[in-house]
Order: sequence, then structure tokens, then C-alpha cells
Amino acid sequence: MKTALGAILITEQEIRRRIVELGRQISNDYSKTSLMFVGILRGSFIFLADLIRAISLEAPVEVDFMSVSSYGDSTATSGTVHIEKDLGISVDGKDVIIVEDIVDTGLTLFHVSNILSGRGARSLRVAALLEKPGNSKYKRPLDYVGFKIPNKFVVGFGLDYAQQYRNLPDIRVLDEI
Ligand code: IMP
Ligand code: MG
Repeated sequence: MKTALGAILITEQEIRRRIVELGRQISNDYSKTSLMFVGILRGSFIFLADLIRAISLEAPVEVDFMSVSSYGDSTATSGTVHIEKDLGISVDGKDVIIVEDIVDTGLTLFHVSNILSGRGARSLRVAALLEKPGNSKYKRPLDYVGFKIPNKFVVGFGLDYAQQYRNLPDIRVLDEI
């Protein structure tokens, strides 16, 4: 497939403003609770970096990352998942926010949330920079969403196509040419 960078869907400034709002929301919701952020690699690293600097909590904040690949086909809710890189910190008894770059089918999130609740997380919420309309596998509303976007393939601000474009400061559509 030949691709080309298309139009800017969300500007750098819009993203920055929205992340500040999400940070405020999280700070209100967890004012005195210690919190652990679990970023799903690789796409979430830029969003997570900005998000945690937009929160102000009295209690400690922990950050860790994991990477998974799911082998479930799009019609199966229970496909298996392979953990490519696991957490180094325990989630047992902790209030956890899973951080995703984009939730599409919701399958990644379905698996990761099952894994973390199986490991004894006390509570689990989700922060996603972007949400596509097809989020059916997770079956729950996302707690903190930056932007709902149409069903287009987007890159930038951490999101890639074939490992490229993560460094773009804004979110752009990738066009087929
Ligand atoms: P899901 O399991 O279908 O929700 O897929 C989520 C993962 O697919 C995200 O974490 C991204 O890595 C990837 N993904 C889905 N849509 C896009 C997109 O438009 N651009 C870049 N990556 C995407
Ligand atoms: Mg991803």
C-alpha cells in the first residue's frame, strides 16, 4: 500500500489544551489516592508523558509500560494475547489508569484490563487520547477520552504507520495513494 500524509485532523495546540483538561479531571477524581499509570507501548508514550505532567496529586504517582499483541480476530472477544513486554511494578491493590494512544476495536484494552484485574488491581480506568467508533470489544465506556475521531487511519503524536510518523506534533490522516 502506498501512503501519503494527509490533512491535519487535530492540531498540536488542540491536543495540548485537551490533555490539560484530562489532567484536571484525573486530579479531581483521584485527589488523595496514589495512582499507577500503565502505558501501552509504543503509541502511548507521548500522550502519557504529557498527561502525567498535567496532573497534580498529593499522593505518589507510579508509571510503567507494557506491550502486547493480540491474536484474536476481529469477531472474537476472547482471542489470546501475547505479552511482549511486561510490567516491572506490581499492580496488586493499586488504582490503575491504563493509557492508550487510540482505541479502535477495543481488543487490546479488553486483554490488558483482564490481565491487570487478574493481578489484583484495586480499580481500573482507561485514558485514551483517541477513540474510534468501533470500540465494541471492551464493552465499557472509556473513562478519559481526548477526542472521538472518524474511522480513518491516523498518525502522529505517538501513533505510527509501519513504525513511522510517531514524532509528528499533531494528528494527521494517512491517505492511500
Ligand atoms: P484495538 O485493539 O483494535 O483497539 O487497537 C488498538 C491499537 O491499534 C492501538 O493501540 C494502535 O496501536 C493501533 N491502531 C488502531 N487504529 C490506529 C490508527 O488509526 N493509527 C495508528 N494506530 C492505530
Ligand atoms: Mg498501540
